[in-house]
Order: sequence, then C-alpha cells, then structure tokens
Amino acid sequence: MLSRPRRNRRHEVIRSMVRESHLSAAHLIAPLFVIEGKDSRIPIKSMPGQNRLTIDQLVKESRELFALGVKCVSLFPAIDDKFKTPDAREAFNPEGLNARAIRAVKEALPDMMVMGDIALDPYSSDGHDGLVDSKTGEILNDATLEVLAKQALCEARAGADIIGPSDMMDGRIGFIRKALDQENFHNTLIMSYCAKYASGYYGPFREALDSAPKKGDKKTYQMDPANSTEALREAKLDEAEGADILMVKPGLPYLDIIYRLKQASHLPIAAYNVSGEYAMVKAAAQNGWIDNDKVILETLTCFRRAGADVILTYFAKEAAILLDQ
Ligand code: PBG
Repeated sequence: MLSRPRRNRRHEVIRSMVRESHLSAAHLIAPLFVIEGKDSRIPIKSMPGQNRLTIDQLVKESRELFALGVKCVSLFPAIDDKFKTPDAREAFNPEGLNARAIRAVKEALPDMMVMGDIALDPYSSDGHDGLVDSKTGEILNDATLEVLAKQALCEARAGADIIGPSDMMDGRIGFIRKALDQENFHNTLIMSYCAKYASGYYGPFREALDSAPKKGDKKTYQMDPANSTEALREAKLDEAEGADILMVKPGLPYLDIIYRLKQASHLPIAAYNVSGEYAMVKAAAQNGWIDNDKVILETLTCFRRAGADVILTYFAKEAAILLDQ
C-alpha cells in the first residue's frame, strides 16, 4: 500500500497541521431575546439554557459574550400583545423595546456589532412577516416594503450596525438599501436572510416570541424546502440589490444550500443554526443520548466546512467557552 490516509491522522499535531476548516468565536453571532421589565431572565422552555432578557440583563449578557470573543449579537424583541396591530406600527417606534435594546447595547459596548431583525411578525396581530389583506388573507408584498424600510431606519437610527431582513418579501433588500442611503446610513450593513425556508425548525423561536401566524402558514413567502436552484435566484437578486452578506436558514438540513451559495457568490455566506436545531441537541444531551460539547463543536465546524463564513447560533456562548479551553 503506497497511499495510507491514516498517516495524516496519526498524531494531533499532524491533524491540526492539515485541518481544512477552523472555528473561532469571531465567526459567531449570538441571537438574543429581549423583554420589557427589570433584572429578569425568563427561561424559554423549549430552548434549555436560553432566556428572554430584560434590557439590563441583555447588556450583561452582551458584555460576557464580548469578553469571550463573540462580538456580534442579533436582537429579537418579545412584544407585548397590547402593542401588536394589523399595521405593525410598533416595528418602527423609536421608543419601542427593539430600539431601546439596540441603543442600550451600543451605549454599553460600542465595539459590539448589533444586528436588528427586519420582519413584522413580532409586532403584527396577524403574526405574519408582512401586512395581511384583511379580505383575502394575502400577504401584501409592496405595501410591506414601506413598513420594512421604516423599521430598518428605526434600527439604524438606534445604532444598529447590521440590518437583517428575515421577511422574504420580494425586492426588500434594494428597497431598504435605498432608504438607508437616503439618510446617509451607507455604512450600515445588510445581512439578507436570502434563502429562508418555510421550516418546522422555527417552532421554539415562535414560542419564545409568541409570534406564530394566527392564520395559515408562511409558504407564500418563505421557500419550499424541496428547492435549491431557487436559492441561487434569490442570491443573485440580493447581490444586485446591494446585500453585504447572504444567509441560509435553517442550518443543518440545508448545508447543501450553503455550499451552493458559497460557490455561486462572492459575498460572505452566513448560516442560521435555528431554534429547533438547538432544541434537538439540548433534548438529546439532557437525556444522555449525545455528548453536548462534542456535538456543538462538530456542528459548528461542519457549517464552516460547508462554506459558512458566519454562523448565527444559540450555542455561541457555550462554543466560545469550549473554544477558550
Ligand atoms: C421571523 C423570524 C423567525 C426566525 C428568525 N426571524 C421565525 C419565522 O420565520 O417564523 C427563526 C429563528 C429560529 O428559529 O431560531 N421573521
């Protein structure tokens, strides 16, 4: 036998030398849930270890993440029912929970990159990412763009470094880019949720925000899990419309999409390791069926191998601690 692949695996020093993919805290973004109130952390049942944080706790958590090398957070506010309306106007309230949360993190930690989510579901009494036609039930594309642009400006004015449109309306990247540029926010990045699928893996997230659609599903705007060429079409449009980073969501069942976008695009690619993926690992680990720490690092490394430059993950803090050891 002339060729023995095992020779390159025989010692940890050799394995490290020939390793193809690397993971560090710098690649991670921590999604965090925010609620009104003071000094409290309310556990999310389906996401063991994750909490809804009041703004003071959000700042504390952000400080800890930053010290561990996780220097980007993505904020998701849980809005009180009394502020949810059909027009989702709370989405662009400069004194609303979202804007206050962004300002608080940026004030405490100017070098922490803060990403704001763009979509109407947390603010809409219909629980959809876009406006709903009250007669037909249709999710209205072009009328929604106006609201999304107001939301993006509200977040940029509050200090958000990155705007993350997760709504999947057509044309939103260009529409938001123009609105930002008109107010001189040309340095604000857009990380497009470019290939976002209509997925069952978002269940725990919708529990955390109480944001599930009141009627119907999201299949007229989020992508069909059976499709992958369609992701290339979305990528091409988002690139042309001025996106800075393209995201694939969910993560693990969609590694092929990450790979295809990485090959097809010159933009950095992000992967969102979503709530349901987190819940599955935690449930199995709590039962002693898998090794929590090994599975976390393996999962995140596999995202990197598939082509993800950036990973949004609820494991960010745990992974950063493990990588530090
Ligand atoms: C909503 C939004 C969702 C997630 C991020 N932004 C849920 C949805 O589309 O219903 C899911 C994230 C997760 O499951 O971790 N615009």
